[in-house]
Amino acid sequence: MASVSNQILAVLLILFIISPSSVQSNQIRINLSNSIANENLSVYCRSSTHKDLGAKIMSPGTSFTWTGDINVPGENEIWLCLMSTAGDLSGLFAIFISNRDNTRCGQECLWTVRHDGLYLNIPDQGYILQFHWQH
Ligand SMILES: *[C@@H]1O[C@H](CO)[C@@H](O)[C@H](O)[C@H]1NC(C)=O
Ligand SMILES: *[C@@H]1O[C@H](CO)[C@@H](O)[C@H](O)[C@H]1NC(C)=O
Repeated sequence: MASVSNQILAVLLILFIISPSSVQSNQIRINLSNSIANENLSVYCRSSTHKDLGAKIMSPGTSFTWTGDINVPGENEIWLCLMSTAGDLSGLFAIFISNRDNTRCGQECLWTVRHDGLYLNIPDQGYILQFHWQH
């Protein structure tokens, strides 16, 4: 009996370890898509923790991802992104704030950049406009 319950326990432990819902990662994926028709989007993102993604040019329909730290004691990581198009759109946006986004994003912070502003996919609500362009 004891060895059977040990085996069950071992299986449960393995399932628990490999089950995605049990992964207590301290990071969340951020995915930014350029959904502006016919415009390249320049994006430059830096974090309050001194991480720097460098300058990127995103052609229409493309996306890229990176990770933000969540639930790190004593740290509220913030990612700011400067964005602009060759047209007249530009702005500086708080794309990720750990304390703000650790629960509202769900599994991943899915952003899409459109001609009228920046939308975040909120679970059960869909893409919701969060920021208008500043210029
Ligand atoms: C976007 O950038 C690419 C590469 O620099 C360029 O070839 C293309 O013409 C640009 N597209 C637009 C719509 O400006
Ligand atoms: C970002 O999310 C979009 C929409 O779900 C998806 O189509 C795209 O493949 C993702 N990009 C990356 C780099 O994972």
